[in-house]
This record gives sequence, C-alpha cells and structure tokens, in this order.
Amino acid sequence: MNPGRNRKSGMRLRGPARMAVLVVGTVAILFVGVKIFTATKSKVTSSDDGQMMAAAQSLIKGDQIRNPRGDVQKEVQLIYRPGGEAVESDKGNAGHAGNMIRKYEEEESDLREDKAGSLHKAHPESKKADSDQGYEAEDNKGLPDIKMSRLSALGDKKGLSQQGDEAFQQQPIQQNMDVAGVFNEPAIPPVAQVPEWALDVQRLAASTIIAKPPTLPFIPPAKLVHLDLKGAPPKISYFKQMFPLYHKLGATGLLIEYEDMFPYAGELQDLAAGNAYTPDDIKGIVNLARENQLEIIPLIQTFGHMEFVLKYEKYIAYRENPKTPQAICPRMPFSMKLIQGMLDQVIAMHPGIRYLHIGSDEVYHLGECPTCKQYMAKGNLTKEDLFMEHIVKVASYVRTEHRLTPIMWDDMYRHIQSEVFLKYKIGDLVEPMVWAYHPNLTQFLHAGIWDQYAKVFKKVWVASSFKGATGIDQYVTNITHHLENHLSWLQIMTAYKSAFSFQGIALTGWQRYDHFAVLCELLPVATPSLALCLQTVVNGGIDPNIVNRVSNLLGFATPINITLGPDRPLPESAPHFPGGDVYHEAQRLYRLDAWAHGFEHLGNFLGFLTPYQLRRNFSSVSSLEAGLRQYAPLVDALKAARDDAAEALWGVYDGHTVAEWLEQRITATLDRLHAMKRSADSLIARRTWPRRPLDARPPLQ
Ligand SMILES: *[C@@H]1O[C@H](CO)[C@@H](O)[C@H](O)[C@H]1NC(C)=O
Ligand SMILES: *[C@@H]1O[C@H](CO)[C@@H](O)[C@H](O)[C@H]1NC(C)=O
Ligand SMILES: *[C@@H]1O[C@H](CO)[C@@H](O)[C@H](O)[C@H]1NC(C)=O
Ligand SMILES: *[C@@H]1O[C@H](CO)[C@@H](O)[C@H](O)[C@H]1NC(C)=O
Ligand SMILES: *[C@@H]1O[C@H](CO)[C@@H](O)[C@H](O)[C@H]1NC(C)=O
Repeated sequence: MNPGRNRKSGMRLRGPARMAVLVVGTVAILFVGVKIFTATKSKVTSSDDGQMMAAAQSLIKGDQIRNPRGDVQKEVQLIYRPGGEAVESDKGNAGHAGNMIRKYEEEESDLREDKAGSLHKAHPESKKADSDQGYEAEDNKGLPDIKMSRLSALGDKKGLSQQGDEAFQQQPIQQNMDVAGVFNEPAIPPVAQVPEWALDVQRLAASTIIAKPPTLPFIPPAKLVHLDLKGAPPKISYFKQMFPLYHKLGATGLLIEYEDMFPYAGELQDLAAGNAYTPDDIKGIVNLARENQLEIIPLIQTFGHMEFVLKYEKYIAYRENPKTPQAICPRMPFSMKLIQGMLDQVIAMHPGIRYLHIGSDEVYHLGECPTCKQYMAKGNLTKEDLFMEHIVKVASYVRTEHRLTPIMWDDMYRHIQSEVFLKYKIGDLVEPMVWAYHPNLTQFLHAGIWDQYAKVFKKVWVASSFKGATGIDQYVTNITHHLENHLSWLQIMTAYKSAFSFQGIALTGWQRYDHFAVLCELLPVATPSLALCLQTVVNGGIDPNIVNRVSNLLGFATPINITLGPDRPLPESAPHFPGGDVYHEAQRLYRLDAWAHGFEHLGNFLGFLTPYQLRRNFSSVSSLEAGLRQYAPLVDALKAARDDAAEALWGVYDGHTVAEWLEQRITATLDRLHAMKRSADSLIARRTWPRRPLDARPPLQ
C-alpha cells in the first residue's frame, strides 16, 4: 500500500524517453540558447548608465523580479574570498526595483518575439527539432493548459564583473569564462566554443519548459532548507557560517529534523544520542536562524520512522510490530503520551514557531498488532481509519495545545479516497507536504493525486531534494538530477497554482535514508547542489549565468559542473565556501574510488584471484604480479585522501561522524584492498602446481 518505498530511489522510474528527447533536442537547444543569450546581452549592453547596471544586476535576482513585493530590501552580497572569510558588500539600490521590473518585462517580450521570429528564420531545421523535442505540444500533457515561458530567458547574461562590484570583479571566474562573449557570436558557434558546463546547463533548462509566456513560473513564498541531522550533528560554528549563506541564496526557513540529535530530557533522555546537541546548542541554532531571517519548522516523526525511539528495550511494547522499531502502535494508551512528551520538549525549545511537521511518512506497519486488529474488527475499521485516527489525535494536539499548524508528509494519503479524508476532516487539520525527488514529476506523480488532494486541501507544501535521494550510499551529489527535480516542481506548481495555495517548498537533504542506514552525501558536499537548487526556485529557472553567479558566490575557481563524472579532472583547489574542503575531498575520493573499482575489476584478478583458485592454491604468478603493480600507488593515494578528509571533516563534524564517514568510505576500501593483496601474495608464493583435475572437493554428480 505504500508508494513511499520509492521515496529515495525515484531514479528507478526514470523513463528512457527523456534521454532520447535530450539527444534529439540538443541541436535546437543550442540555437535557442545562443539566440537568447545574444539577444539579452546586446539589450543590456546597449545602455551603460548606472540604472541599467542596477537593472542588469537585479535581473538575476529572481525573487525581486518574479515576486515583486514592493519594498525591495537593500541587497547585501556575501562572497567567500580565498582564505575563507566572508566579505559583505552593498550591492543594491532598492529604488530601481520598479524600473528593473519594467525593463525585465520589456526584455522578456523582446526575447519572446525573438524566439518566435528570427530564431526559426536563422535555421530552418530548428523548428522541426523543436517539435521533435515535444517542446510545445507534448511536454505538458496531463497538465492544465498553461501558458509557457522559456525559463532561461532570465535577463542579463553579462558577468557580474560588469556591474561595478569590486568583490565580484576579483573572482577569476569571470575572466576565464567570458560567457557573454561566447554567446555573442553572431553565427552558431561550434560546440567546442561553448564551455561544456554551460552546455550542460542549457540542455537541462531547455528540457523542462515551466510556463509559456506571458505566464511566469510560480515561485512558492517559503523556501525551506531541510536539515536532516540524524546521527551526525554539524557543529554550531558551521551553522553560523552557513545560515547567512542560506539566506543569501534565497532560503526563508529551515525544516529541522533533529531525530536523535535533540537533547530530550527527563523520561525521554534515552532518545538523545550520546553526541546530541545540548540545550545551549539548540538556543544557538534558534538565535542564528532568527538573525538570518530563517523561520524554523521542527520535524518530529510521530508514527513511522520512529526507530530512534522504539529501538530501545523499554519501548518494545510501543511497537506496532515487536520485531521492528519502524512504527509506533497508535492504539496503546502510552503511545500518545510518549509522542506528546516529544512534541512538548521540542516545541518548548523553539519559541515563536508557527508550524510543526509531524512526519508520518512511510508507516510500514499498520494494523498488525493484536490490539489494533481487535479494534479494527470491533469497529469494522480499515487500516486507513487507523491511520487517520492517529493523525487526527496528533494534529489536534499540536493545534489545540500548542496553537501551531501541523504539516505532514503526504505519501500515506496517495491512495486514500477523498471520502475518507472528508470523514476525518483532515483538510481542516493539517497541511500536507507532497514530496517527490524524481527528475520528472509529470511521470512520477500521476494527475489523480492532485485531483484528489484538490477536493480536500487548499494549502499544500511540496518537498524536493538537493541530496540524499539518488543512492543510499551516495557520497557525491549528482546536481543534474536535483536540478531536474526542482525544475519539474516549478512546472507542477505553475500548472496547479490555481487549484492550491502552495505555501512553500522544502528542499530536502537526507543525511541517512533511515536511522540504521549509512551516511549519504554530507551537507558540505551537497552545498553547491543546494545553492543551485535554491537559486533555481528563486529565479523560476536555471541558466548558465545563475550557475556562474553561484559558482562565484561559493568561491569556485571555475564554474560548477552540474554533471557528475569521475573522469573529469579534479580542480586544483577546494572552493572557498565553508566546508568547501569537505566537498573537495569527496570529489577526490570519487575519483580514487573509480580507480579502486577499476583495480578490483582488473582481468588479472577477475581471472586469477577467485575463491576457486585460492582454495586450490592455483594461479598465475605473472598475472597477479602485473595486477599488483597498481596496488601501492592506489593505497598511498587513498591513505593520503583519508588524512586530508579527516582534517576537512573536523571543521564541520564531531569525532564520531568523522570516524564513521572515514570507516565507511575509505577504511573499508583499504581493508578490501589489503585482503586482496594478502590473497594474491599467498598464490604468488607457490612455485610448482599439481596436475588437473584440481578438485579437492567432491566433483559434481
Ligand atoms: C516527463 O514525462 C512526461 C510523461 O511521461 C513526458 O511527456 C515529458 O516529456 C517528460 N519531461 C521531461 C522533461 O523529460
Ligand atoms: C464494514 O464496512 C464495510 C465498508 O467499509 C461495509 O461494506 C460492511 O457492510 C461493514 N460491515 C459491517 C458488519 O458493518
Ligand atoms: C545524474 O543524473 C542524471 C539525470 O537524472 C542522469 O542522467 C545521470 O546518469 C546521472 N549521472 C550519474 C553519474 O549518476
Ligand atoms: C569542470 O570540468 C572541467 C573539465 O571538464 C574542469 O576543468 C573544471 O575544473 C571543472 N570545474 C569544477 C568546479 O569542478
Ligand atoms: C600456496 O602455496 C604457498 C607455497 O606453498 C603457500 O605459502 C601459501 O600459503 C599457499 N596459499 C594458499 C592460499 O593456500
């Protein structure tokens, strides 16, 4: 019954069609991209007065343009300089906001004309390629008829260095990557002239059309960064550096899932891990969030995923299934008392909050225990009733006792009929957060879900992912996947904006898939992904200029490559954002792991170092020796990487987390390689061999 099983493995459902579309459309996209950038650039450079500069600058500040709120704040840029310190520089002139928006609109309409007219004139094939790509007609099948606008037409494509900002001028990125110059080519440049990173971004942008002109992409008011802290607490000093950056990138809040990192006290003290935050740490987090205008929404699991609570002996009786601590029994009288205790403690340490997320996703065990079975039989109730009753109890408690609005994950609702919702008046009680991390949500979330929800809910949240959703043991982030997911969410929200009031988007960053699971991508490793995803939401789309600007802001020497590949050269130095060295070390390890994988799969070992051969002490000395030639350099490189990673990780995490990551990610590989070496050495030691057959074991009958 649970669609949530696909939660973090949405990739599996990816259609092959998309890849084909990408390939077929590539040529057309090139034309479109080049044309748009050329048009925009010449528009901006046609005037050089100060106001135009400000306009150009603000064109990439999507939240002012897309979401004009009248009172535009003075812009402050935070730039990470070599050496790591953040520099603030006053960049804005709020008075120009009105002009900027008008200019933007003019430009946008020019671009539209340009696209409709000269683009297709420029190359007769491009129109065909457009329709091959399913560009106008196919892409939005199943969605309400919305007007589409090409999201990459986002204004200024000049580098920020042209905008009179000293700090940005000093960034080498602008000199290296003269994007504007590249796109200024009147003729279609050969592919080689457009940097690969920019091509990747253009392809991505062109593959997802969010809205058709004159409709602008819908940008949700709240943009929450999800901090999944389970079993690996970043240092408060790290948050101190990061919260201003989250704010700068357009985040408005934090969805904090402490799990076992909250300092539960009294009867609940076991729930806190040995390395949980202290009450002072929580105060620090709360104050930092307030200082950086980030609204905190705590998330507490109150149904499924309660492993961190129910794993203890004293809570066996609370389990729905005594064998597993996954879900709590909703019918035990003490269950509710436990949940209320958790809610009370967390809420007490977060004064001033407005929302509380009660989790409730992936409740794998429901109606299994004798108590629940009896109750269901007696009342002729279904598992759905059982689920709803518990949600009503928890949500009502949050509303009436704490005067907070409860939010919950939606997945358990995806197959429940709207009559059931109405019976329990769920729509008046909770705001669902629809989560989906797949790159194509038209494919992944069928339209029926939205129709169903529209009958029940007015206010809806959505959740995307910037990490922790593409592989349970993934440790480097595939940015393309997450950007696709965000573009897809923008598309969905734009399509359904009249059916729902979308309250906000939570950009989830799962740290572990489950309490018992390994760590996946660490926060610093996924910071470039987070930054790009946030900016994609804020701007209602992505283009190379946004990537360039984010790369600058994070202190990269060259623009971020959104596609992941171990074959790309590792940049010489780490980016300067806080935790940039952790990012760099993960990238380095990604390449070393590719080497280790290649080593372990050498024909020398696949053919000569198998259990069969080991059991019989029968193998080729010269083949094994040849294979082992790579052993020492590989092991040395891994050991050096381990030492450097340890140092980098210490800047962000406590010793437990550093040790866990190193053991899982590097020591395990070293151990495997050592074992191979020992085995190979023992086979190499032999000088004479027996005649065949070798069977020491009984031959097969
Ligand atoms: C997403 O999936 C839908 C339905 O399968 C398809 O029509 C559309 O082209 C896909 N979009 C992208 C960007 O691949
Ligand atoms: C139990 O409920 C089902 C529908 O949920 C209904 O069809 C059935 O008649 C009910 N049985 C009794 C004994 O009430
Ligand atoms: C990254 O994600 C993209 C888009 O989902 C996918 O096509 C690509 O294969 C992924 N790359 C890797 C190395 O996993
Ligand atoms: C991106 O890839 C190029 C080569 O493919 C490389 O030179 C550059 O350093 C990479 N940039 C980053 C930030 O990883
Ligand atoms: C194979 O034989 C050599 C020499 O007799 C011996 O040193 C080694 O331990 C043996 N290896 C195995 C796997 O039995």
